[in-house]
Amino acid sequence: MKPSEFKRYTITAALPYANGPLHIGHLAGCYIPADIYVRYLRSQGRDVAFVGGSDEHGVAITIKARKEGISPQEVVDRYHELMKKSFQEFGISFDHYSRTSAKIHHETASGFFRDLYDKGEFLEQTTEQYFDEEAGQFLADRYIEGTCPKCGNEHAYGDQCERCGSSLSPTELINPKSKLSGNTPVLKETKHWFLDLAKYTDFLKNWILVDHAQDWKNNVLGQCRSWLEAGDGLQARSMTRDMDWGIPVPVEGAEGKVLYVWFDAPIGYISSTKEWAAEKGIDWEPYWRSEDTKLVHFIGKDNIVFHCIVFPAILKTHGGYVLPDNVPANEFLNLEGDKISTSRNWAVWLHEYLEQFPDKQDVLRYVLTANAPETKDNDFTWKDFQSRNNSELVAIYGNFVNRAVVLTHKFFDGNVPGLGTLNDLDKDALEALKSFPEKIAASIERYRFREALSFVMDFARTGNKYLAETEPWKTIKEDRERTGTILNIALNFAANLAIVAEPFLPFTSAKIFGMFGLQGLKWEDAGSHELLQTGQQIFEAALLFDKIEDATVEAQIQKLMATKKQNEISNAVAEPMKDIISYEDFAKLDMRVVKVLTAEPMPKSKKLLRLTVDTGLGVKTVLSGVAEHFQPEDLIGKQVTMLINLAPRKMMGIDSEGMILMAEDRDGSLRLLQPNTPTSEGSTIS
Ligand code: MF3
Ligand code: ZN
Repeated sequence: MKPSEFKRYTITAALPYANGPLHIGHLAGCYIPADIYVRYLRSQGRDVAFVGGSDEHGVAITIKARKEGISPQEVVDRYHELMKKSFQEFGISFDHYSRTSAKIHHETASGFFRDLYDKGEFLEQTTEQYFDEEAGQFLADRYIEGTCPKCGNEHAYGDQCERCGSSLSPTELINPKSKLSGNTPVLKETKHWFLDLAKYTDFLKNWILVDHAQDWKNNVLGQCRSWLEAGDGLQARSMTRDMDWGIPVPVEGAEGKVLYVWFDAPIGYISSTKEWAAEKGIDWEPYWRSEDTKLVHFIGKDNIVFHCIVFPAILKTHGGYVLPDNVPANEFLNLEGDKISTSRNWAVWLHEYLEQFPDKQDVLRYVLTANAPETKDNDFTWKDFQSRNNSELVAIYGNFVNRAVVLTHKFFDGNVPGLGTLNDLDKDALEALKSFPEKIAASIERYRFREALSFVMDFARTGNKYLAETEPWKTIKEDRERTGTILNIALNFAANLAIVAEPFLPFTSAKIFGMFGLQGLKWEDAGSHELLQTGQQIFEAALLFDKIEDATVEAQIQKLMATKKQNEISNAVAEPMKDIISYEDFAKLDMRVVKVLTAEPMPKSKKLLRLTVDTGLGVKTVLSGVAEHFQPEDLIGKQVTMLINLAPRKMMGIDSEGMILMAEDRDGSLRLLQPNTPTSEGSTIS
């Protein structure tokens, strides 16, 4: 169907697991693209339902609950609220944000399962799975740990080894252990219901690889192709799990089993739509069951198989539902060169970002779109964040709008001046004003948001250049009417910019509309040079963007470096043991408690401090390589331990008569070894 033939749009963004706060990877992966698209559609006056919600089932939740020692319900309650708030704060404009623990969702998902079950679509299979006899339950893959058969990592999970990246099945692990009890699990038979995906291969191949070969993104088609054309074909997937957290399997003989989280979660889009429609008092069905509805799923790349293969197979089997018209999945966003990771705390958390940059939601939206991982993985860096803010948003966009408004106040008391005779520069500007909106729209329609945003910036750049070339601050001296024409065009340019930038920078557009006293402008208004009326009063210039200083981003980088260091320390292994020595070797070492009398830097040395110590047997001089770790005053007066019979060594012209003993931590930092209560100098250590 052509865009004009769709009557309504159902737009979904992946339901995030309610097991942690949101970070920039979430925003960049699917929520910002979805929001841009939806805001654009609304501006086009189209009928849209933008639905989402929290994914509250699955092992991700129960693992988090165990880690924190709270119930799964407490986990999802906490993070559902936090995520919902973050979405609001960043202007992700869901029409409805639900959760999969909602009653209506349990009913909807059970209904789907029951429908497929009654049609005889599931293969019932009994397989052997690991069971923890002490905990009395079957173990999800993530609850089993053991040695990786490929690389020997002793902490591989039942589904994957994070060291070598191999996917595993639990029975491949050497020496498997239950993470619940620590015991060796036993294999026990259990029955599950499988969706026979192979049955759908022909349908899926045609629908995706033929019908959508032209309009779906290459990264999405590529993954689909590798699933659909795999040598051994699509494997049957179990749609049930042995767990007590989730939606009970609604059939006889399924006690203690719940729906697989990837069975119920996508149905959450439908439940969320039902909830939304009920609140609005309208019918939900057209949004899912009418052929003239365009369904689009925004997701990250790890969700492709579920949205392009599993969920469509479920919808198709159930019947009566539309299939997605597109699934514009993004690749991943990295952070400062490393994979974003919740467990390693390698992320920029949205709630923390807002503490630091309380009114800079649009800056983050801008950077994450300008640098979106649309076709390949991309990297977020704080330096790039700063430079895009300073040299693009401040220097181009903000500067242009600000000059137009400030000059209008300065020369015309804030009244929009009229348009006089047009010269070539003016005509070119009006030409640009006509052509940009269409160009931007075409890119958005094709899910090319980076490209669309770069056109928005070109648009602003054109305005900026127009002011630079027409120089209204000079023309005012001899030609007031000419100056009026220029500012009329510039102001209308700014108002147009606010319309087409709104999907990307909604907070900024709201400020611009506010300055101009404009309301309810739609996409179709863009291209007009008469958005502002001659003589109309505009408000004072509001601050749109401001410069981000080096020190501010430095602090963010330092914070990440501290995290990295912390991770290194907790991952580092202790140094291997040296060769065994005899007692006689040991007895030769004469170690004593000594007291530092003086300490001073060695001239011309960065590393050495020169110490004098009381050894109980007299005063000795020691050169110690600790100047980068301790200040002299950290040492003076302290009791420390020392090897006093080390052969003297001349360094920089001074004899060093022994060695102060220190512990070196895994990060290379040094600690003094001190007696735990004051001890007489010269006490022996053995
Ligand atoms: N919770 C999943 C994730 O974070 C996404 C679920 S999307 C849905 O990867 F379709 F299942 F809802
Ligand atoms: Zn491995």
